[in-house]
Amino acid sequence: MPETSPSRPAVGITALGAYTPPNVVTNADFEKRLDTTDEWIFSRTGIRERRFSAPDEFSSDMGVRAVNDLVRRFPDALEGVDTVICATGTPDALFPATAALIAGQVGLRGTAAFDVSSACSGFVYACSVAQGLIMSGTAKKVLVVSAEVLTKIVDQSDRGIAVLFGDGGGAVVIEEVPAGYGFESFVLGADSAGADSLYIRCIADHLPSGRPMEQFTYMNGREVFKFAVRVLGDSGHQAMQKAGLTSKDVDWLIPHQANIRIIEAACERFGIPMDKTVVNLDRYGNTSAATVPLALTEAYDDGRIKDGQQLLMVAFGGGLSWGASTMKWYDSALHKAKRQAEVAVSV
Ligand code: UT7
Repeated sequence: MPETSPSRPAVGITALGAYTPPNVVTNADFEKRLDTTDEWIFSRTGIRERRFSAPDEFSSDMGVRAVNDLVRRFPDALEGVDTVICATGTPDALFPATAALIAGQVGLRGTAAFDVSSACSGFVYACSVAQGLIMSGTAKKVLVVSAEVLTKIVDQSDRGIAVLFGDGGGAVVIEEVPAGYGFESFVLGADSAGADSLYIRCIADHLPSGRPMEQFTYMNGREVFKFAVRVLGDSGHQAMQKAGLTSKDVDWLIPHQANIRIIEAACERFGIPMDKTVVNLDRYGNTSAATVPLALTEAYDDGRIKDGQQLLMVAFGGGLSWGASTMKWYDSALHKAKRQAEVAVSV
């Protein structure tokens, strides 16, 4: 049974935007300074280039620019926003929350503002929190921002990790939508048995397992790869099942963009063809929590995602964590234009 019911409001995305910094770093650029090749990077990951933030740009800057892009497309979208959630694994500071820093800079004073820390799964987690706040009546309109500057905290001299990550941000507004649209299901999870496989050190110097933490971002690529293929398939299936859907109903799969081989393996498990899957990691690499809203915005922009279509979002990351969600796309711009046309005819 779908999680939404007539007694609960339908909640969905009504505006979106994205930002990536202009500085393009290609595989050829890495060839110049690391023992690597374009051939290795592209064949093992699917990445051709990624964007690097400037030295004085941080996650709040990625977030603010993504929100500005959202406002450019949907000029009234911030009116009535009462809560800002930022999904980030690279906050500007431990506190204040990056969400609070973003809120102030986009003209939202006095709103609730907090961060969700769930690494690359953060966007799906944050959307679920937003839906819950709206369903419970605590919030009416939530701005969810994913903002990341992973390139600043990975060891740029380590070829095993440096080539994978890029910087960027995505933003969506979440609020009540007409019945039949919006989020239908969420599946969230985390298993700290995999905590040692992917982490960024902060205050503690060792993990609960007792293992001392490395200075830079640490990743056991092979372990994360195996985990990712398993959880993307499992959580995606569970999300579809909860919503009463099968993979045949899915118009667009929007996966976390970490590695094309992980995405291909997930598609095979779902039985969803690659031409129904949004892929942009060739141009942006892995932007952590920002990959899903970046891909969503791109596919909305170029007209692939249309009103009423069925979407499946799947993500995984540090924790190790995972998040999947199904949603029926509500094209608020299309509905607004229709309403304006009806008014014009009636006067
Ligand atoms: O958002 C979640 C974050 N992380 C992920 O999703 C990562 C998931 N894992 C992966 O995407 C893949 O495991 C990687 C792309 C990280 C690595 O690909 P792989 O096919 O698993 O390669 P590997 O780690 O097994 O390494 C194979 C070889 C090694 O050399 P030896 O030991 O066989 O001689 C590596 O040292 O490739 C070497 N290697 C490289 N060679 C050239 C590792 N990185 C590079 C590189 N260029 N950049």
